[in-house]
Amino acid sequence: MKKIIIAIDGYSSSGKSTMAKDLAREIGYHYIDSGAMYRAVTLYAMRHGMIGADGSVDIPALVAAMPQIAISFEKTMAGQHTMLNGEDVEQQIRTMEVSSHVSPVSAIKEVRAALVKMQQELGAGKGIVMDGRDIGTVVFPNAELKIFVDASAETRAQRRYKELLEKGTSVTYEQVLENVKGRDFIDSTRKVSPLRRATDAIALDNSQMTREQQLEWLLNIYQRVANA
Ligand code: DC
Repeated sequence: MKKIIIAIDGYSSSGKSTMAKDLAREIGYHYIDSGAMYRAVTLYAMRHGMIGADGSVDIPALVAAMPQIAISFEKTMAGQHTMLNGEDVEQQIRTMEVSSHVSPVSAIKEVRAALVKMQQELGAGKGIVMDGRDIGTVVFPNAELKIFVDASAETRAQRRYKELLEKGTSVTYEQVLENVKGRDFIDSTRKVSPLRRATDAIALDNSQMTREQQLEWLLNIYQRVANA
């Protein structure tokens, strides 16, 4: 079976990461969460006073700092953790605060250029599943298998709300829905690499699917492509 690149793109909280992780584990591929990289850059910007009280980003300062930002992934007993300059920031990058600042940061052209380069290097050896917004369109336009995941904003907000509650975050469903809709809007209307389905991507609406059904669906497609 040949080693391929699997690109999974879609809206926020569409279950991309869960399905990408499940698939990677099942077929022995590396999993790369490109959203975690944008989140790590956002955390760096927040910690270095580059995000104003009104949410505006000090773009020149962040662009100048990009060469000092090293992002990597480490496998731990609890799964894959994101490292920012050697520090495990897996918990910190998943907060609502980071979620509310990440879209403007990921709309910065220079930030995208730096992260896309890192992502292409990570995928150079193939045998990877990468999820994000522009993996099939910009990062790996020649990926052998591209999936575009969608689900209604309400379904996605409900899932994210449950996740946050389980983590003990105090938040309302309405706040989560507002964040999901706000990110959808920025992600799909930004000038640089807006979220859109690659013409050769296979669409999946997983609103009515269980995690097991998703995995089965993915495995079938993967086997077809990798054996071709
Ligand atoms: O998948 P996520 O919600 O963790 O991603 C966080 C943010 O990063 C999301 O609002 C959009 C951005 N992102 C992006 O612009 N391009 C990617 N390839 C991945 C994420």
